[in-house]
Amino acid sequence: MAKSSHATWGGRFTAGPAELMLQFSESVSFDRRLAAFDIAGSKAHSAMLAHVGLITGAERNAIHAGLDALLAEIEAGKFVWETRLEDVHMNIEQALTKRVPAAAKLHTARSRNEQIAVDMRLFFKHACAVLGEKIRGAERALLALADANRAVLIPGYTHLQRAQPVFFAHHLFAWLEMLERDRQRFAAVAASANWCPLGVGAIAGTTLPIDREFTAKALGFVDAKGRPRVTQNSMDTVADRDLFIEFAAACALFGVHLSRIAEDLILWSSTEFKFIELPDAFCTGSSLMPQKKNPDSCELLRGKSARLQGNLQTLLVLTKGLPLTYNRDLQEDKPPIFDSFDQTSICADVLAGTLGGLTVHAANCAAAVADPALLATDLADYLVLQGVPFRDAHHAVGAVVRLAENHKVALNHLSTADVQTVHPAFKADWVDVFDLKRAIAKREGTGMPGPKQLARQFTRWKKVLQ
Ligand code: ARG
Repeated sequence: MAKSSHATWGGRFTAGPAELMLQFSESVSFDRRLAAFDIAGSKAHSAMLAHVGLITGAERNAIHAGLDALLAEIEAGKFVWETRLEDVHMNIEQALTKRVPAAAKLHTARSRNEQIAVDMRLFFKHACAVLGEKIRGAERALLALADANRAVLIPGYTHLQRAQPVFFAHHLFAWLEMLERDRQRFAAVAASANWCPLGVGAIAGTTLPIDREFTAKALGFVDAKGRPRVTQNSMDTVADRDLFIEFAAACALFGVHLSRIAEDLILWSSTEFKFIELPDAFCTGSSLMPQKKNPDSCELLRGKSARLQGNLQTLLVLTKGLPLTYNRDLQEDKPPIFDSFDQTSICADVLAGTLGGLTVHAANCAAAVADPALLATDLADYLVLQGVPFRDAHHAVGAVVRLAENHKVALNHLSTADVQTVHPAFKADWVDVFDLKRAIAKREGTGMPGPKQLARQFTRWKKVLQ
């Protein structure tokens, strides 16, 4: 044979790649983490090759034994990854071929374009399951915090101005809704991942008599009834990166939620609010100011969300101008995905840890929620029940608020005579509106913060998160 490059694809080359090119183009430094998925794909593929008679049963067994041994070595950290072999696929195949001659047949009717697609689909299924569990952990921490502070009321805020009273738990349950949507979103991404790409070749399938359904079943790409799910267009299969974008988008949106939760926690822990105390274990001090206790875990949750959005943006830009089908640019899809997975994963744990050690300053919450202005809307509702049109009632209560400000007294310390100068519909019982317990108990429609609703939500979340 004529002198050719040593690379797997080297037949048509007279020289191998430059050292610089090897360094530039390698992906094994980051895609080696796909080894277990790559080996699972190779086992399923070789089982299929034996099933259709393209290799013998003995060859399949030798390949499987070799792959199992390689995986054990990789997991033990004993495998030597070689940059010159480019990626995880070539490293494993070449190491296997050195030990098992039959491995030279492993790549029959297979391309790296579909191999990376299957590795990543297996990765996404795994990653979504891991993140779903971690998010559930954070949700459970939230539920426990709500449970431990069931009776605490706080002002709810719009425009960061005190608006209306709510149970602290009602606010936490708003976060739970956000996190539960994230959990469902990751489950949906896992469902999108559940299509087997193997068998589409590099772009246009193969002339060899393969059985795509066999491979799909072997890898668990099946529907609820156990029927195989295989991708339906060979070109789309190797070009498609929607799943990457869906996963990165789910991470980015989870990051947005974390950031908003973190922002509330930072505000609540400030001296100006002092509703909560963040756990020392998730805060740090200042190197200069001895009194400082900084909410670092929350600030980093807020900061990491920028990174998650950046990763999504990278993937959108990476794919937007690419012609079909596979282009080497697509190798750049993995670092942002792995980063999003790793960061989302640790963020979920840090949120759970921060919530787990958080304590509530019930007295400060009670003082803040005692502000009678929080019940100004209830006073307008009182007038509505006296038959006053809401727009007039709103206007009248606005005037009452102004009057209290002028008199420099709290809203509920005006006299009945004073408020009657604003509107004659105010009766002697107007001031009962400011009974906070009574006010909150009136909000019992679905989704409202009343105590019966809250009890219902506790029951619901306990069931969802058990
Ligand atoms: N390392 C490559 C990637 O991550 C694998 C697919 C390579 N395919 C190819 N034709 N070079 O995209």
